[in-house]
Amino acid sequence: MRVLAALIAISTATFSGAAFAACTVPSYNMFYGTPDGYSATDAFVGKFDYPAAPTEPLPAFMAIDFTSDWKAYLQGALDYAFEGNEAVDFDVAQNSTRDWYHALWMHPDASGREFLRGLTQERASRPDQYKDGLAKEFQTWAIGFYNSFGASEFHEIWANPCDPDVSGLLFPVGTVTFKLLFTEATSTDLPYLANAPSWMAHIGRSDPVVDGVQPERVRAMQLLQVDIAVRDDDATETGWVFGTFVYSNDVVSADPWRKLKPVGLSWGNDPTVLPGNPLSENVTDLTLAGTLFGWPERLELGWGGRMNGPADNLLSSCTSCHGTAQFPRSDDFGNFPRLAVAPANYSQRLLDYFRNIAPGVAFDPITKFRNSSVEVPAFPLDYSLQIQSGLERICNAARRTDPPFDTEPVPAVCVEANYLATPMMAEPITDEALKRQELNRIDWDQYEPPIR
Ligand code: HEC
Repeated sequence: MRVLAALIAISTATFSGAAFAACTVPSYNMFYGTPDGYSATDAFVGKFDYPAAPTEPLPAFMAIDFTSDWKAYLQGALDYAFEGNEAVDFDVAQNSTRDWYHALWMHPDASGREFLRGLTQERASRPDQYKDGLAKEFQTWAIGFYNSFGASEFHEIWANPCDPDVSGLLFPVGTVTFKLLFTEATSTDLPYLANAPSWMAHIGRSDPVVDGVQPERVRAMQLLQVDIAVRDDDATETGWVFGTFVYSNDVVSADPWRKLKPVGLSWGNDPTVLPGNPLSENVTDLTLAGTLFGWPERLELGWGGRMNGPADNLLSSCTSCHGTAQFPRSDDFGNFPRLAVAPANYSQRLLDYFRNIAPGVAFDPITKFRNSSVEVPAFPLDYSLQIQSGLERICNAARRTDPPFDTEPVPAVCVEANYLATPMMAEPITDEALKRQELNRIDWDQYEPPIR
């Protein structure tokens, strides 16, 4: 479809400049307006001017052998990600060292980008998740960035930002993406969060009035976790290396952004290793037991000791959850096993879920849209869950006929029949009435809840 789309674009200009802008510019969810005390100039502005090719050489830290020194690799990745960004408070458009970009179409829906920082809502913490006996649940919000290698793939996908093309999606080696995760928990709840970098965010934008009291709309969030993923061919089974840091006040540094402890690294799912046995594609710093895990409700960070962060779902792990990135999502799993299993079923879980997925391969190649009975082939999304989420959000916006979809055509990727008509959507349906009928058959809101 990519070649064909390029040809059509040259000959007939299939999309107007106005529509192009309307599908690029809304950087945050405008439905909730500007918070009191702030003005339009305070709004988050995404960087979506994706380059056609990487704007820098391969990141130097990738030369480090992560199997022999995982901490050096992870630290190198963090230094690379933070360089030039810390000084501009992660307003990446101002970074003069290196180009970083945001993912498109993360703004709509209840969990879409908030006004001040462009954070999106993730799964809230569960009781006892962060600390034994900590009953309260805390909201989690985050923002992700891609370097110019990754953005060169976005350039292809979003060539028409109103009609994404995910055929043949593959990130080039050298793609680095990182994510800052913030929690509403404070050092009173979690002592290791003392002096953590704190951002104000419009997270209470839809909170209801309780007993006549209006909750604060703009609230402080503390940095909890920094996630990094690298497209690296040295990860021979999956093509990706995942690593994470947790903020920790006992790390000695004058710079609060550098008070980060490496938690672990993963470059595969250890698809045959039963719980309790040594892993060879996942390392976790076990000195963090007692602080991040090691109590009945959180015995480990990821399933069977696989690498994961404190904010993440313990039935899953970084590599396995991201390996499910596809569109439509897997109808069997979504992105993680929905229930814990008994020891007798452990081997089946490894076979079903903890498989190593190569870049360009779909986790669940034949799937279904939500509440549909029609089987469709899935597009693999090469471990990018922001793309998965962006596609669900753009389809939901089109279903609601949010502008510009009050006038713009329904995106081809949202139309079930397109998956059956021609492989890779070489000739998408053009009958708008039919497309809309197809779009309306899917329960897009079912895709909305933050899943991590
Ligand atoms: C149970 C699922 C799940 C687990 C486990 C998980 N993530 Fe993610 N991750 C997501 C989702 C969903 C998104 C995109 C949504 C968003 O950013 O709001 C995401 C986004 C990201 C991004 C931004 C790039 C992208 O994929 O769009 C990075 C980098 C990342 N995660 C790294 C990690 C690391 C490192 C770990 C382990 C410490 C991890 N993730 C564990 C679900 C998960």
